[in-house]
Amino acid sequence: MFNIAIDGPAGAGKSTIAKEIAKKINFVYVDTGAMFRSMALYLLNNNIDPENEELVSSSCPDMDITITYVDGEQQVILNGENVSGKIRTEEVGKTASTIAKYSAVRTKLLELQRALASKEQVIMDGRDIGTAVLPNAELKVYLTASSDERARRRVKQLEENGMAADFEEIKADIIKRDEQDMNREIAPLKQADDAILVDSSDMSVEEVIDHIVSLYQERA
Ligand code: DC
Repeated sequence: MFNIAIDGPAGAGKSTIAKEIAKKINFVYVDTGAMFRSMALYLLNNNIDPENEELVSSSCPDMDITITYVDGEQQVILNGENVSGKIRTEEVGKTASTIAKYSAVRTKLLELQRALASKEQVIMDGRDIGTAVLPNAELKVYLTASSDERARRRVKQLEENGMAADFEEIKADIIKRDEQDMNREIAPLKQADDAILVDSSDMSVEEVIDHIVSLYQERA
């Protein structure tokens, strides 16, 4: 079993790149951010204050989260509803980052993430995949880019999905989210000791994909 871990800050292009690599080398792509986002959506929909750890923790058993694939695309099912189309907003992303600090939230998702990786060869992206979820992954990549470049990409992505986006606002959000993800106590975002750093600020999507695929081929 060969598993690939891709970690990095918000907007580094992890999902775009991991999705394409999965197709190329016939791996299953697992987007762990989508799982945190689906929990965030549940809390927002039920008016549960994400800052209230006790309340969020006691709500965890009420969220049944499963992953399925339709035409190779990951779908997140929350209490029987496919919420994949509803979790891509900035509000959900920010809330996901807030609740990702809590141990009850991380423990719940860790089991699901490990179970997926034990069944198939996965390329899994997130914040703590190489450091906590799959510490024995055969290939670990820490994918990053400058905050300006990441904000530019996020604006483009939001606009492509028909949502309005303000560059300065998005950039400030990205910086805040990184700070929150890097400084939490449990499983913070950081480069694993054995991860390969890829800075994509001046690389095209194709260049990043080719680079990571060649790292995989060297090891496989
Ligand atoms: O990658 P994303 O933007 O979809 O992730 C949303 C938030 O979820 C991110 O800011 C922090 C949290 N997250 C996490 O803590 N650990 C992961 N493995 C993936 C996401």
